[in-house]
Amino acid sequence: MVGIARPALIRSTSIPLSRPPVDDEIKEAVWAAIASGHYILGAECREFEAALARSIGVRHVVLTSSGTAALWLSFRALGVKAGDEVLVPSHTAFPTIEAIVFAGATPVFVDVDATYGLDVVDAAAKVTPRTIGVVPVHLYGQAVDLDAVSQFVSRCGIWAVEDCCQAIGAGWRGRPVGSFGRASAFSFYPSKNLTVLGDGGAVATDDVVVADQCRRLRDHGRRGKDLHVEIGFNLRFNELNAAAGRVGLRRLEAMNDRRRALAARYRAGLTRVPVELPRERPEGRHVYHLFVIRTPERDALRAFLAGRGVETGIHYPVPAHRQPAIQHLSAPSLPVTERLVGEILSLPISAGHAEAEVDEVVAAVQEYFRHGG
Ligand SMILES: Cc1ncc(COP(=O)(O)O)c(C=O)c1O
Repeated sequence: MVGIARPALIRSTSIPLSRPPVDDEIKEAVWAAIASGHYILGAECREFEAALARSIGVRHVVLTSSGTAALWLSFRALGVKAGDEVLVPSHTAFPTIEAIVFAGATPVFVDVDATYGLDVVDAAAKVTPRTIGVVPVHLYGQAVDLDAVSQFVSRCGIWAVEDCCQAIGAGWRGRPVGSFGRASAFSFYPSKNLTVLGDGGAVATDDVVVADQCRRLRDHGRRGKDLHVEIGFNLRFNELNAAAGRVGLRRLEAMNDRRRALAARYRAGLTRVPVELPRERPEGRHVYHLFVIRTPERDALRAFLAGRGVETGIHYPVPAHRQPAIQHLSAPSLPVTERLVGEILSLPISAGHAEAEVDEVVAAVQEYFRHGG
């Protein structure tokens, strides 16, 4: 397709991959938090934690400074230690892996299935006497097969920590993700389905011991004001972000519906185009954090779309087990992951995108393939 993206076609406007919501209601909530004079772990945070717990369907939510911190706190609270092995898909954001390593354990990499979710058969083949847990990652906004994961963890006597960082509001058989594992981690990074005008995250759990330990660890291992009973860290959350998050959470359902409607529009527009569309599991509710298509011509298509002012992404081009930071670990063969990283392409989607923008992206993809692909 070299030659189609001629300079004359370069647009001055652009369609971003994601457009985080900011409006007057959110700004006013943040102004009120500023005026309160209380900035860290106050009433806004407590209300946000309670509202999140209700919406996820768990007893406890602990806000934290990021999704990475939420994962690390969960692992520490579950007693992860050196020598332990944690099963995890290689096809995830690197922070999933980083948190396992930072907690002292060894990630054992597992392949994914055709929906980009954990391949439970491959996970089962990699269980050893040192395996203590598994991290199903609900990638791109779609729940992994939680029936299979639930059976697997109870058969092996291990825990699951769900990585819900891309999937807040997603469900499995009518139940929200984040309510299946011993603990689960959420992220509010600006491109996520629920955001807080900055970094942020949360641990969700039904286990009061895990929740209490996460609360302690996020605040220097403190019990009371002056007693530090273990080594924690500063991973706290703040009132301004909580105020923004509370407004966003009230709109989450509608924002996810909007993402689903835009995904359906992509699907309708791209049916006759030779790309592989996302496969939806019928038992789940996909909330389309990302709309990921597949084509062997990914790089040429991406360059063509860039020439049309369409921002795209690759989530993720380098699989975790090939990252230099962990080259000391043995890299297994993961054929599905190795192949997909060269073909996946994330198209623009968020609750803030217009239908006309999706139509424009669809038209550009159609045009690319009309000219021979
Ligand atoms: C699947 C997944 N896990 C973990 C994280 C880490 O979240 P955060 O960026 O809030 O630390 C992210 C976000 O990048 C993610 O997408």
